[in-house]
Amino acid sequence: MTANEITLNNGVTMPSLGLGVFQSAPEETTAAVAEALGVGYRHIDTAAAYANEREVGKGIRRSGLSRDQVFIETKVWISDYGYEPTLHAYDKSAAKLGVDQLDLLILHQPLPSRFDLTLDAYRALEKLLNDGRVRAIGVSNFMPEHLDRLLSEAGVVPAVNQIEVHPYFQQPALQKLHSQHAILSQAWSPIGGITAYGGADKRSFDDPTLLDIAARHGKTAAQVMLRWHLQQGRSAIPKSTKPARIAENFAVFDFELTHEQLAAIDALDTGVRGGPDPDSITLETYGRPIPEA
Ligand SMILES: NC(=O)c1ccc[n+]([C@@H]2O[C@H](COP(=O)([O-])OP(=O)(O)OC[C@H]3O[C@@H](n4cnc5c(N)ncnc54)[C@H](OP(=O)(O)O)[C@@H]3O)[C@@H](O)[C@H]2O)c1
Repeated sequence: MTANEITLNNGVTMPSLGLGVFQSAPEETTAAVAEALGVGYRHIDTAAAYANEREVGKGIRRSGLSRDQVFIETKVWISDYGYEPTLHAYDKSAAKLGVDQLDLLILHQPLPSRFDLTLDAYRALEKLLNDGRVRAIGVSNFMPEHLDRLLSEAGVVPAVNQIEVHPYFQQPALQKLHSQHAILSQAWSPIGGITAYGGADKRSFDDPTLLDIAARHGKTAAQVMLRWHLQQGRSAIPKSTKPARIAENFAVFDFELTHEQLAAIDALDTGVRGGPDPDSITLETYGRPIPEA
């Protein structure tokens, strides 16, 4: 059976399955985090832009677990890109979370129109890594051209690239590039939440192939999707604020998909992304100040 642990390219170990908190309202986040830690999660993925880092910190303290038992991942928003602003972004996130070291700090998006700022932000992450303020650094939503450029200029290969991956959008070429550089693929919207927002008509949760595989294992479609990520070596960070679903999404270490079932899920890829095209992200369209701690 797959263990809930993955070793990053710098030797740091990380629980593969974490709780996501994007769109978790601040008033629900503390309870969701404490609930998740209570049922066995040991990894929380938040972001400065989610405006709930403070509540994540409260949930971790409420769980009663010690700091070193929980892997905390957060993200720097584009408005804080640049060398000094990104160093300060670390201070803001660490203070809101109530910790003096982060386990994984990543750049939330590339800024293709201001890649100079993106590189300066990454240099700040390298400095934080060097100073022991963070245990690992990485990126998110970097496409092959962004990664190639970063790798040609940066000293530290990112430990992870957090990207949209679910059965309907799998980015195989990007995942292959990750493998070539020992960058971990971390799946956001891992159970296809983005296919269901706003009443979309093709929800991953209702997919007949996934439901058929799920029935054969006495599991749900969400559990099958998470198992698919884990067996293919990815990290996944499903989000829920509902206790039953938080527990359901963690009950994925007691069954195994066959090669045929993995291949059947691979075949669901449509090549159509649910989230925004990373090249469309600019300071003008998505920039907004991240408050002080
Ligand atoms: N880097 C990025 O740009 C980026 C972008 C998006 C997301 N993320 C990260 O990835 C995490 C997960 O992505 P996501 O939140 O978009 O999507 P997701 O985890 O694939 O799906 C979450 C959605 O599915 C529902 N859900 C959860 N468990 C379920 C289950 N077992 N059965 C049925 N429905 C279920 C949730 O609702 P309830 O809460 O009501 O249960 C929520 O609406 C985020 O929270 C965030 O940490 C990162």
